[in-house]
Amino acid sequence: MGVRANSRPGTRQSVTGLRRALAVGALGVLGAVTAFAAASGPADAAASTLGAAAAQSGRYFGTAIAAGKLGDSAYTTIANREFNMVTAENEMKIDATEPNRGQFNFTNADRIYNWAVQNGKQVRGHTLAWHSQQPGWMQSLSGSSLRQAMIDHINGVMAHYKGKIAYWDVVNEAFDDSNGGRRNSNLQQTGNDWIEVAFRTARAADPAAKLCYNDYNIDNWTWAKTQGVYNMVKDFKSRGVPIDCVGLQSHFNSGSPYNSNYRTTISSFAALGVDVAITELDIQGASATTYANVVNDCLAVSRCVGITTWGVRDSDSWRSGDTPLLFDGNGNKKAAYTSVLNALNAAPSVSPSPSPSQSPSQSPSQSPSQSPSQSPSQSPSQSPSQTPSGACSATIATISSWPGGFQSEVTVRAGSAPVNGWTVKWTWPGGQSFSSLWSGTQTVSGSNVTVRNADYNGSIAAGGSTTFGFTANGTAATPAITCTSP
Ligand code: G3I
Repeated sequence: MGVRANSRPGTRQSVTGLRRALAVGALGVLGAVTAFAAASGPADAAASTLGAAAAQSGRYFGTAIAAGKLGDSAYTTIANREFNMVTAENEMKIDATEPNRGQFNFTNADRIYNWAVQNGKQVRGHTLAWHSQQPGWMQSLSGSSLRQAMIDHINGVMAHYKGKIAYWDVVNEAFDDSNGGRRNSNLQQTGNDWIEVAFRTARAADPAAKLCYNDYNIDNWTWAKTQGVYNMVKDFKSRGVPIDCVGLQSHFNSGSPYNSNYRTTISSFAALGVDVAITELDIQGASATTYANVVNDCLAVSRCVGITTWGVRDSDSWRSGDTPLLFDGNGNKKAAYTSVLNALNAAPSVSPSPSPSQSPSQSPSQSPSQSPSQSPSQSPSQSPSQTPSGACSATIATISSWPGGFQSEVTVRAGSAPVNGWTVKWTWPGGQSFSSLWSGTQTVSGSNVTVRNADYNGSIAAGGSTTFGFTANGTAATPAITCTSP
């Protein structure tokens, strides 16, 4: 592929509860996505594994698993101990699962799935529609027959795992590396709507799975590719195309390095109303500082639901020469492992209260993970609004700031009754001005700001929430804000 250059242990009981919830979800009970209601307070004891540490803030920590390594006890010992989410590195891809048209083979995919659920882990499905790793028969198709083959493939694989997969990477790597447009692939040549057809097909095939768009080099907020994917997701959300999550692969190397705007990328996607996951993390050289930065950026955004490293040990990596993972070839913990564990343990904890299982009739996009929880990093700068009884309330938080500008996220919450339409108001304290705003429509009169809901996010269920975001000129501010509902 084309990566450039290249108990909380607060209480022991809580982690037990998490693991039970993970196991139940992974064992195929509908509601494969486990979410947790937020509580306040820092973790009061350190967890000793990545999965348990991530679980303290309601997140997961996963790894890619290769079926061919499940006989290696050194490998499975680390994988089982440290991780609570599993992605099949190659075994659920198109060439593996449908080697001949209409003949599905889940032998190796099931080996990984069964190992995961038997060890109490959830599973991310990877991947259903991709220009790469297509079997020969699919590579030779085009036009409507390829379009139909894609639909048949999605239906065939998702039927096999119906109700059992937490997140599916429905479409992988569909954008061009540099120009912000679509990659020119055989799938793209079937028509620009192929991605939304894939998502609509996937929703119908397994309404319990969260449906993700997954790509590399969409980590840096300033890159055209990132903006291209962002605009697609925004368009999908505005038109009701069923997308629930964005996967940032995050293969960082010298040609595609970590950038401090990564947090802006995560929060900006999240502000569109999707979960964000870091799906294939590896960092050339495995800088402990960079790994901690990545983890802290995820922890700063409430809808960043989890992190997956692309392999267990350096020797398992698709680019082992870069020694990019958390364990060395002998299975020893590297410095980056410790920095990741410490960052996870420093996150404010949540009380695990398993969400109600999603029923097939529920849209996974109405995710329990859209909880009214506050992002850990947002809490200190939040300014609570007056809350009209039975209506809506809002909080504003600074996501990031730089000389002369800043980015904020506003969370709008319903009270005990549903909200149908909302209006948020504030007054800029120091001459600030919008540069862009999303998921809302603004009216500005002098220093007085009014933001109303967009077409697609005016309805909030009782107890639910939505967000909008903006970038602005001036000094970061968290003014008092009000929310009214007609
Ligand atoms: O198993 C065969 C082996 O029998 C044969 O002798 C050997 C000869 O080349 O090939 C082996 O298969 C290789 C397979 O990995 C398992 O190691 C394939 O050639 C090789 O192409 C394949 O590479 C995988 C790559 O995706 C293919 O695109 C990597 O393992 C896998 O880590 C990588 O994962 C991708 C994600 O799916 C999407 N994002 C980028 C990421 C890294 O490229």
